Amino acid sequence: MAEQEKGGVSAEVRRVLPDQFTTGLGVLFATLGSAVGLGNIWKFPSLAGSNGGAAFLVIYLICTVLVGLPIMLTEQMIGRKGRGDAVTALKRVAPGKAWWLIGAAGVLAAFLIMAFYTEVAGWVFAYIFKAIFGNILSTNPEVTSAAFGALVSSPAQSLIWQWVDLLIVGAIIVFGVSKGIEAATKRLMPILFILLVIVGIRSLTLPGAAQGLAFLFKPDFTKITFGVVLAALGLAFFKLSIGMGCMITYGGYYGEDQNIPAMATRVVLSDLAVSLLAGIAIFPVVFAFGFEPAIGPSLLFITIPSVFASMPLGNIFIVFFFVLTFIASVGAQLSLLEVIVAFLVNRLNMNRVKATITTVVSLALVGSLAALSGNVLSKVLVFGKSFFDLFDFISSNMILPLGGLFLAIFAGWVWGYPRFKVALSNEGRLNNAGFLRFVFFLLKVVTPVLVFVVLLGGLGVF
Ligand code: PHE
Repeated sequence: MAEQEKGGVSAEVRRVLPDQFTTGLGVLFATLGSAVGLGNIWKFPSLAGSNGGAAFLVIYLICTVLVGLPIMLTEQMIGRKGRGDAVTALKRVAPGKAWWLIGAAGVLAAFLIMAFYTEVAGWVFAYIFKAIFGNILSTNPEVTSAAFGALVSSPAQSLIWQWVDLLIVGAIIVFGVSKGIEAATKRLMPILFILLVIVGIRSLTLPGAAQGLAFLFKPDFTKITFGVVLAALGLAFFKLSIGMGCMITYGGYYGEDQNIPAMATRVVLSDLAVSLLAGIAIFPVVFAFGFEPAIGPSLLFITIPSVFASMPLGNIFIVFFFVLTFIASVGAQLSLLEVIVAFLVNRLNMNRVKATITTVVSLALVGSLAALSGNVLSKVLVFGKSFFDLFDFISSNMILPLGGLFLAIFAGWVWGYPRFKVALSNEGRLNNAGFLRFVFFLLKVVTPVLVFVVLLGGLGVF
């Protein structure tokens, strides 16, 4: 115990430990910072739009409760027990067994996600400048679509903005996740929330908004196929940063007295609230100005300028909007990078600087396949998908659900209830037995069955 430090974290663990995770509030914000990101503001609206709206939302909600929360708790529990990167933690929790492979797959998933995420973050960053200098504000779908098209179809712009984004997040990770970023996220996240509420209100008061609301909240279940369910499940994993060791890595940075179940529940609910707000901000505009809901990844970038074009001081608000969205994406990217960097530091004995540089340079190379898939590589399809979509599909719709499936089996059938209860009640100090019993039941039976069936169905087995 002599080497125990603040928050019950040992000196050895602190070698790769970003400082802020040792306070309760720091844990909440770091975890929330990982969860809330482009998944909420960009991916959720684009997937809901192209998969039928409300029915997709319902399935997504079911996946979040029945699969998302139990797996998030499990990962954080494993992380705190095993204290290490995803592979190391699983090796410590299950010595001599092959469960660490979940962590290894997770490191790969983090890499694939970053390969396309950095591109979208690059677009967001570019939009800050376009909002300041260019003329992207318009309620005319043709104008906003053309502005986005010009960005995506230029190979030079796509690459440069992606690399700028990589440099920014790489620099933050090298210099440690300092108090600065924590303090910034803490202050800026609430502002993003408020701004989304303002945009939502403006959007709701547009003529024709009701149709957008109906699209988002009035389900038509005839639209549901296994493919849609797989997309919703994949999104639930992606949005909550689970199934790939991110929450295991972060769990390693939590103190022994952190109330994991309460914190995770708060994270899941806040994450959901941000997604719903983004949907409310976007879908009424889609119908008010005649956009196409199923347009895909460009949805955010072509609809948001229209809301701002139709509100007072819109030219200033839109700059804030993209700045805050970029900051949200940074929190998520830091957690993705941390999965890879912690792995390289622990397993390959690299120092933090070398690990970060290696990761960022490899991402600049592999990520360029995603950046160029909107232009020079647009004709190159692998399994019928562009590199951008392929990286997304393999990570979100395959590795993450598979990782979650195995984690649920591990916790439910190998680790077992007695240990689950001891770990998540902080050795009996927390009075949450009823909640834990319920979550454990989900984890042991419901989660694995659901994920298994959806995965097979989504891959066309039935
Ligand atoms: N949850 C993040 C978002 O919504 C993305 C992410 C996925 C982060 C997986 C970490 C791990 O933007």
